[in-house]
Amino acid sequence: MATLSSCPSTETEYSEDDPMEVSEASELENHPIQSVKVYGPKDYKEKFNPDDYLNFYYSNDAMPQGARVSLFVLPIFAHIMEETMAPDERFSMIDIGAGPTIYSAVCFRKLVRRIYLTDYVQSNLDVLDHWLKKTKPFDWSRVITVVKRNEGGKAPNEFEIAKIEALARQKVNRGGIFHADVHQEKVCPFEAMSNREYDIMVSIFCLEAACSNYEEYRQAMKNMTNLLRPGGRLILGSVTEDSCYVAGMRSQQNPVVFSLLHLTEQEIVDCLEECDFDMETMRKYALNHEGVLYLMVSKRPRPKLTYTPGRFIRLS
Ligand SMILES: C[S@@+](CC[C@H](N)C(=O)[O-])C[C@H]1O[C@@H](n2cnc3c(N)ncnc32)[C@H](O)[C@@H]1O
Repeated sequence: MATLSSCPSTETEYSEDDPMEVSEASELENHPIQSVKVYGPKDYKEKFNPDDYLNFYYSNDAMPQGARVSLFVLPIFAHIMEETMAPDERFSMIDIGAGPTIYSAVCFRKLVRRIYLTDYVQSNLDVLDHWLKKTKPFDWSRVITVVKRNEGGKAPNEFEIAKIEALARQKVNRGGIFHADVHQEKVCPFEAMSNREYDIMVSIFCLEAACSNYEEYRQAMKNMTNLLRPGGRLILGSVTEDSCYVAGMRSQQNPVVFSLLHLTEQEIVDCLEECDFDMETMRKYALNHEGVLYLMVSKRPRPKLTYTPGRFIRLS
């Protein structure tokens, strides 16, 4: 199984005349092509290409080479939430830094009534819009098949795949597609968005891509999780202890590489604690050899206040 493909060695000088088959970035190390430039958080608007990213990770061709771990973990977390949260506690879900992907909407389609997909890069939002309006939709059938298999049962047929996608689309239609920047105090600047609190928040491989140091990461986590209601659940997918990833192939010999903030599990956990999460509720799914960590954790509920003449007393 593969997650985000870690980057090829940037010290390597690559030669032009060494063609290769690319499936994993690690293979690039064995097939030198050309020197690789690593883009940073400030380059997303200019250099992140949604088509390259989708083709590299989620296309029907790419999927058999390494099913994405998120498609295994999110359905498990969705199932746990279905069992442990009442329907009126799980009205809305927001995905922060969804990129051009809709798999979180597929995984949560039955759990919530409204789904909000957000990202920083306009071209990602355009791809999501095209999917929503069916104007130029990416083919998500392989991804939907994997998700459905992980929910249990046999592989869905064409009709069932279309039904699953339609339900995900309906839920995103009720919510929406919005710009987000985790570095802003108001992560989603639209009035209707920023004044709202969400029941469930998903953010997969976003913060470590968006931040260049730990201080920035802590602030971005705070900004982002302010949108989650007290008592709500966060699902955080993180790449740990890695410094860059392949965001697609511009051509067969030309990977697009972005930096990642090097994070340890302890740093992530400390940060969540600071942001008022109850770490006793944390559930973890880790693939250490892949350097990937998925956490589900509840935000502490609002303290109950009781009034005695003259003052409020905090009960919990
Ligand atoms: C590695 S991709 C992850 C995309 C998707 N969540 C997935 O699982 O495939 C990182 C995403 O973070 C987004 N991003 C980068 N900087 C951001 C920022 N300041 N605020 C919100 N999202 C940002 C990028 O546009 C990109 O879509």
